[in-house]
Amino acid sequence: MPKSFKRMLYGGDYNPEQWPEDIWSEDMRLFKKAEINSVTINVFSWVRIQPSENEYCFEELDKIIHMLSEANFDIVLATSTASLPAWMVKRYPDVTRTDFEGRKYKFGGRHNFCPNSLTYQKYSVKIAEKLAERYASNSHITCWHICNEYHGECYCENCEKAFRVWLKDKYKTINDLNRAWNMSFWGHTLQDWDEIVVPNALSEHFEPRYTFFSGMSLDYKRFNSEGLMNNYIGERDAVRRYVPDALITTNLMGTYKPLDYFKWAKEMDIVSWDNYPSYDTPVSEVAMNHDLMRGLKSGKPFMLMEQTPSQQNWQPYNSLKRPGKMRAQSFQAVAHGADTVQFFQLRRSQGACEKFHGAVIEHAGHEHTRVFRETEALGRDLKKLGDTLIDSTIEARVGILFDWDTWWALEYTSGPHEDLTYLPQIQRYYDALYKKHIPVDIVGMDDDFERYDLLIAPVLYMIKGKIDKKLENFVAKGGRFITTFMSGIVDETDNVILGGYPGKLRDLLGIWVEEIDALLPDHANTIVPIDGTFLRDAVYQCNMLCDIIHLEKAEAIALYGEDFYKGMPVLTKNKYKEGTAYYIGSNAEQKLIDELIVHVCKDKGISSLAEVPEFVEVSCRTKNNNKYYFIINHLNESVEVSLPFVGYKDLLTDKITLEKEMLKPFDVKILVDHS
Ligand code: GLA
Ligand code: ZN
Repeated sequence: MPKSFKRMLYGGDYNPEQWPEDIWSEDMRLFKKAEINSVTINVFSWVRIQPSENEYCFEELDKIIHMLSEANFDIVLATSTASLPAWMVKRYPDVTRTDFEGRKYKFGGRHNFCPNSLTYQKYSVKIAEKLAERYASNSHITCWHICNEYHGECYCENCEKAFRVWLKDKYKTINDLNRAWNMSFWGHTLQDWDEIVVPNALSEHFEPRYTFFSGMSLDYKRFNSEGLMNNYIGERDAVRRYVPDALITTNLMGTYKPLDYFKWAKEMDIVSWDNYPSYDTPVSEVAMNHDLMRGLKSGKPFMLMEQTPSQQNWQPYNSLKRPGKMRAQSFQAVAHGADTVQFFQLRRSQGACEKFHGAVIEHAGHEHTRVFRETEALGRDLKKLGDTLIDSTIEARVGILFDWDTWWALEYTSGPHEDLTYLPQIQRYYDALYKKHIPVDIVGMDDDFERYDLLIAPVLYMIKGKIDKKLENFVAKGGRFITTFMSGIVDETDNVILGGYPGKLRDLLGIWVEEIDALLPDHANTIVPIDGTFLRDAVYQCNMLCDIIHLEKAEAIALYGEDFYKGMPVLTKNKYKEGTAYYIGSNAEQKLIDELIVHVCKDKGISSLAEVPEFVEVSCRTKNNNKYYFIINHLNESVEVSLPFVGYKDLLTDKITLEKEMLKPFDVKILVDHS
């Protein structure tokens, strides 16, 4: 099986087992009509293929796979292990989870198996193995999809025991563990491994967000993420034993906090993810999620495994996607690196909680619907593109650092300000670039920093390993670096790096932060630029946290305008060998961030792809030296733009780009220089 696709997969989750067989052939007709070329099956069919402990029954799945193979669909075969069979729960209660409050789950729901249940591990691997053995030679199976949306946390006794083993392996001695968790605080020193209990509502947490011992809670996050990942690995390896060249994935969920997806992606052949924005989610947030998913494997294309063609059912308000919006969203994913466009789901279920979830085939049951027509039109677009974009990449000179450990630790921290959360801070810097149509990568701590000219690390609270050295090398060679308040504070156990903030970043930034003030929600301070800087206004607002900064080697660009630290630096710049490092000591208003980013980009010769309004998205994929420019109007109204791509051909319409182009509501263009 090749490690990428021959054609852009177009299709999605299909659950024929929920329907009588006589509907299946009608489904095939409708899929073909909509140019659907791929279906994802067997996502929740565990009990159907293993109706009891020692009984496996593949007749129905054989039939489905045969039908799809005959019709030349690319099959994404799931391993079905996301919903536990009722018999398994009844017979082996260890398969279900215990929640944060200590409540043991019964049969019901899905995505709720205990990662450390030996029963779950045994039977999930076994079913994956049986499937792989049975369908290994089917060349229509293009991709293997392990389980579904790995999810959540468990706090059961099995997990507690496994946590102890995990900790012993990590820390070797109980004293080292005590040191890492700072257990001399409140006299919590442990003397034996079996004194360790899971950190939850019954032990060290005073709220899900807050913990008395963040080092411990942080380790539990890592342990849980790894535990679920080991479930994935178990099944993946089972598939591999029979299908050595299988392309294997599991669907991720964007900025999903409990799982460290950078670690997961290392175990996946291709990243896939499910994109479910609400009716009011900003388009730049969706763009950031796509870029994160692409960043997980350092820029490799990913799969858009799920999205709804029309509406969801699980949001408070499940608005329809306005005509054209689903197409624009699909191309937005492609513009950011997706090589597939897949839906949940192809036929809308009749009952249970997803009966009001959109599908390609609605309850009306035929093709004469708006949603079907839009799906069909998009199918034709994708067919026209063929394999042009497959495996193309995105070239970015700017990277934003993203790190799950930092996210977890920052939000576990009690103080200095409860409004400080990780994602909005990342998003603010992403938005500054997005608005200017400057391509950006989301970069993991293990990635090569030197591919970039500018690296931004908002609230880089935790300094893991030798990240400080890696950043110093990056800047020393001429890189530009921007970081903010609450950076460089702790090590990977969430213990403060002593000697003054921002700890190991102090030399690079040339500052010392003596104190961190927390402002009440309706309070603010001001940022006053020093004369002659790139900042255009006389004064800017800032709030939340205010670092009290002393310059060591850095120079000040702007000073506080209020309070007892009025006149002290808030925005600084430090020349470090060939490069420059900037520090923003407070939660500055967006305008200041925008201006700083524009200034630094200009300084490094990093330019916009096009000068168009911010709601018109511009991005670019590159393949064989050809650049494909995506122009997406995210507004439900027409807008005229001047594009720097005059004479380029639109791959979707074959039209040649003029100096002024009128974009229709949710219009999409993919422009290439064909001269
Ligand atoms: C998730 C799941 C699907 C379905 C959709 C509904 O992404 O993977 O099975 O429940 O949500 O939005
Ligand atoms: Zn458990």
